Amino acid sequence: PSLKKVVGDKFHIGVAINTAQSSGRDAKSVQLIKKHFNSVVAENCMKSAVIHPEENRYNFSQADEFVKFGEDNDMFIIGHCLMWHSQLPRWFCTDSEGKNVSPEVLKQRMKDHIYTVVGRYKGRVKGWDVVNEAIIEDGSYRKTKFYEILGEEFIPLAFQYAHEADPDAELYYNDYGMNVEGRRNTVVKIVKDMKEKGLRVDAIGMQGHMGMDYPDMKEFEESILAFASTGAKVMITEWDMSALPTAKRSANISDTVAYRKMLNPYPEALPDNVSEEWNARMTDFLNLFMKHSDVITRVTAWGVIDGDSWKNDFPVRGRRDYPLLFDRNYQPKPFVKELIEKK
Ligand code: XIL
Repeated sequence: PSLKKVVGDKFHIGVAINTAQSSGRDAKSVQLIKKHFNSVVAENCMKSAVIHPEENRYNFSQADEFVKFGEDNDMFIIGHCLMWHSQLPRWFCTDSEGKNVSPEVLKQRMKDHIYTVVGRYKGRVKGWDVVNEAIIEDGSYRKTKFYEILGEEFIPLAFQYAHEADPDAELYYNDYGMNVEGRRNTVVKIVKDMKEKGLRVDAIGMQGHMGMDYPDMKEFEESILAFASTGAKVMITEWDMSALPTAKRSANISDTVAYRKMLNPYPEALPDNVSEEWNARMTDFLNLFMKHSDVITRVTAWGVIDGDSWKNDFPVRGRRDYPLLFDRNYQPKPFVKELIEKK
């Protein structure tokens, strides 16, 4: 019994993998990846800071290994991500004095970057997160360097370049907090506008970083439907669910003991199987994804086991979190176990 046997006829079931996994060093996680998933995305190694650290230097070694891992294991390979304000090398948008480059220069750099990266894996990487996290909650554009220099145009431009570099690749717009109405409305508009202009947009990626009290499931469902109304498919691209209370990075608490307690209010670690509430909420969301499997074409977990999750260090460092489908002992969480044993 495996996840892909149970849900694989509904949508691709994917996972984000790190370099220890794509290189094969982390054999235990590799076993789980091969058994349960049929799609992979690189957790970090295709981000611009890693793959293109200097203007005239690319670093393809980890990305090459990742793509080979995907091919060797017959996975649907996703590239993450082409244009993102984070994990972006400083040189990309500025000149040697640190001043913003001109729109012409930035366009040329975007084009070179996208042509080179997408071109290298043409026909092998099947879908790209072309633009990541460009819209904020109130529906306005995030004030990134891309936006400062090029305005709204940077999004359609990125999609145009990606399509030119590999006409067969699927292209996605990806963002978090996609249940929120302001962001939802703007993303719908952007995708509709691009499609009307004749640009290729295959899917809208809802990252799906969740917690016990967000997102609201009804809002999330409304977004699935709104995104599908553009004619694009919907993907849950970075699914995880923190079991810890939300901690604000900006929390300004002078009492260290109180602060630590706020970061992790549990005196002991939680049990590896987390709580019944957590498992029930994961089941509810998975059921929601299956209910909409006519429009949802992929569900990807953002990591294999809890011990490797980014949530242990976000939004504050050094917590012990339990957000993924497999625990620190490589065991499926109860809701996963129940699901795969039922079949
Ligand atoms: C995270 C990775 O998981 C971490 O290892 C890294 O340190 C920071 O980025 N949204 C995204 C992902 O689109 O690329 C982020 O991944 C998580 C949030």
